[in-house]
Amino acid sequence: MNIHVVILAAGKGTRMKSDRPKVLHRVAGRPMIEFVLDAADAISPASKTLVIGHQAESVRAALASRRDLTFVVQQPQLGTAHALLQTEAVLKSVSGTLVLLSGDVPMLTRETLRRLADHHARSGAALTVVTASVDDPAGYGRIVRDGQRIARIVEDRDATPAERAIREINSGIYAFALDGLFDAVRSIAAENAQHEYYLPDLVAILRRAGRTVETISVDNADEIRGVNSRFELASVSRMMRNQKNVELMAAGVTLEDPATAYIDPDVVIGPDTIIHPGVSLEGRTTIGAGAEIHSGVRIVNSHVGSRAVIFNHCVIVEARIADDARVGPFAHLRKDADVRERAKVGNFVELKNTVLGPGSKSMHLTYLGDARIGEKVNVGAGTITCNYDGEQKRQTIIEDGAFIGSDSQLIAPVTIGKDAYIGSGTTVREDVPAESLAVSAGKQRNIEGWVKERKQKRETVKKG
Ligand code: UD1
Ligand code: CA
Repeated sequence: MNIHVVILAAGKGTRMKSDRPKVLHRVAGRPMIEFVLDAADAISPASKTLVIGHQAESVRAALASRRDLTFVVQQPQLGTAHALLQTEAVLKSVSGTLVLLSGDVPMLTRETLRRLADHHARSGAALTVVTASVDDPAGYGRIVRDGQRIARIVEDRDATPAERAIREINSGIYAFALDGLFDAVRSIAAENAQHEYYLPDLVAILRRAGRTVETISVDNADEIRGVNSRFELASVSRMMRNQKNVELMAAGVTLEDPATAYIDPDVVIGPDTIIHPGVSLEGRTTIGAGAEIHSGVRIVNSHVGSRAVIFNHCVIVEARIADDARVGPFAHLRKDADVRERAKVGNFVELKNTVLGPGSKSMHLTYLGDARIGEKVNVGAGTITCNYDGEQKRQTIIEDGAFIGSDSQLIAPVTIGKDAYIGSGTTVREDVPAESLAVSAGKQRNIEGWVKERKQKRETVKKG
């Protein structure tokens, strides 16, 4: 059966008090619309149409990489029924089912969508509404029934006190038979508190016309929570993160304090890895098994290998850390930092576009940029690769087993040969051959008694 998905995302989101379109606000690190678009794939739609309006261009730009989306602009925004009508031009020649989703309901599960499509197909209804019973129905449309059947939906603002007491709410998610749908939607009037065209009015219209309207109910009402305010944005984020945390713990990951583990939905973590409090794992980050991530660490789109340890307060963005490596505390790994097996990176060390080879160490106060460092190299405290000459970034190569003495500057492009030894405080301007020593500082001169003489001079001045 042909299912066409339409997602409403044109509304202003007034209650967000934001310049940013509501559906681009992030839930658990991701624009909320992305969750809705991904969930829609559960019912293998023949087409996906997104209705945009308020800040349409920024929504379109944010979703430009999704080739399977058709955008329809609703201008001005006169309500959810008016929004659906704008898709008529795109959908008038297709038949089957239209599943309508809301861009601001990001927790909807794939299972519920499948259940909606199945139920709708089996019952042959003109409309199937997804509902839930909640303790606090304020703000939602209420499901008014006559006996078992749904009779109509009344919006919160238009409800009588008795209707407000109804705890069964409209999720704003529906399946419609496409046959005759747009004509029925056109008959909706805007006679209500907001003078908007309400799509839920279709329930009463279809019932009056003698058509079948069905409901399915979700057990977990959290799933259909709409995001209309910053408070709801935060609560939905918290629920989403909590769900992710529960899954991770069930799969054998230790979260010392789940309440302060900020782990994005796409993050993958192996069993027996320990996550300390206050850790952020973002984007498409992967972490192996038996690793340990200490407090205050932020990792974005990076890989951390098995048994690796990241000590406190590291920032790791688009980097790779191999198995058994150690990083931190206070390290900054930037784009294409590549820390290989058993390598160690210590405090106040910054790496960018640099390979630190297997078993190599850079423990203190160092900048390594655009460098290829081999195996078992020791990079002393305060080493700096001078990779930028003001015009171009240039490469430093350090071969296996080399020893870089503390406070050395390596002026790129430069190559330090295998097992070479750089004396402390050396400014390396030329390539160093394998197994050689490089020193650049002049001979040290001691002036004996210099301090003693200075003291005596000062005392004479004071007395005189
Ligand atoms: C809507 C339903 C309500 C339901 C609730 C569930 C209506 C009239 N009410 O209320 O019964 O309980 O969802 O979350 O439908 N939109 C447009 N164009 C418009 C207006 C809205 O595209 O002209 C979009 C919004 O961007 C949003 C969605 O439709 O994604 C829902 O609109 P919103 O204003 O949030 O409706 P609610 O008041 O939440
Ligand atoms: Ca809403």
